[in-house]
Amino acid sequence: MLSDLRQLSRVARVSAGWVPGLDIKPIMAELTSRMSEELDYHLEATHQQTFAKAFRGDPDYAIPDVVFATDEVLVSEWLPGVPLARIIAEGDQPTRDAAAQLYLEFLMAGPQKAGQLHADPHPGNFRITPDGRLGILDFGAVNRLPGGLPPVMGRLLTHALAGDADRLVEGLRAEGFIKPTITVEPESVLTYLRMFLEPMEFGHFRFDRAWLRSVALRMNDVRRPDWTVGIKLNLPPEYLLIHRVWLGGIGVLCQIGGEVSPREAFVRYLPEFDVTRLPPPR
Ligand SMILES: Nc1ncnc2c1ncn2[C@@H]1O[C@H](COP(=O)(O)OP(=O)(O)O)[C@@H](O)[C@H]1O
Ligand SMILES: [Mg+2]
Repeated sequence: MLSDLRQLSRVARVSAGWVPGLDIKPIMAELTSRMSEELDYHLEATHQQTFAKAFRGDPDYAIPDVVFATDEVLVSEWLPGVPLARIIAEGDQPTRDAAAQLYLEFLMAGPQKAGQLHADPHPGNFRITPDGRLGILDFGAVNRLPGGLPPVMGRLLTHALAGDADRLVEGLRAEGFIKPTITVEPESVLTYLRMFLEPMEFGHFRFDRAWLRSVALRMNDVRRPDWTVGIKLNLPPEYLLIHRVWLGGIGVLCQIGGEVSPREAFVRYLPEFDVTRLPPPR
């Protein structure tokens, strides 16, 4: 979190004139209040217990119960398993594939089942239990989402993947991702965002470091006509943690190097994601 803050304040300092699309003040306010929460063990225990209860008996996920919590300590049940970092370092391909699918689905399963987004996607907080579930630890950073992920996310993703530029931009404006003063070419917005959504065009996709590098190169390629879209988009504060977790999560997925079915994950867990409007997978 601290590094986020440092990065953001750096952006804030230089952004005054030339990041026209971004409203930095509400983002800083949201970040500051989320950060102060991370230091509270009672709150962390509450979050963890909410997750543990919501996923009790789940075939895919394991969350340790809180044993007790004070201001200074938080004691959890022991959760055996192979740390995700070890799978990243030396896992075989089937182990990577299974871990990646569970990890990807957990980005959406948490909000859906527990009404909370686990907001620290670092590999140290995950492990594969002996019975093949994804174990999740460390509930210091959590985004409360009582209604699950905003349904508009599923709708916007559907518009983008269906190639409906006009409805996509209309939706982005309504949700505050494009401020009223900003003018954009809908087709450019679509082209820009589809760079990140490319994996969703496939039935199966392997997130890996090479793909991540290629996205970074394309994103920063100033010769692309849609390059300026990046600086025209806003981040409404209620999406700060979702954005952080999804970007971080994609980074971890690329480290895991597993092949996943992203559409299946979205159909299963993302409200209002309408796969019937999408072209068939490649
Ligand atoms: N319930 C648990 N069962 C097994 N190992 C745990 C458990 N809780 C924490 N650990 C181990 O301790 C490490 C640090 O715990 P974590 O809750 O992530 O704290 P931090 O806030 O320092 O990241 C984890 O990466 C994991 O290896
Ligand atoms: Mg941790």
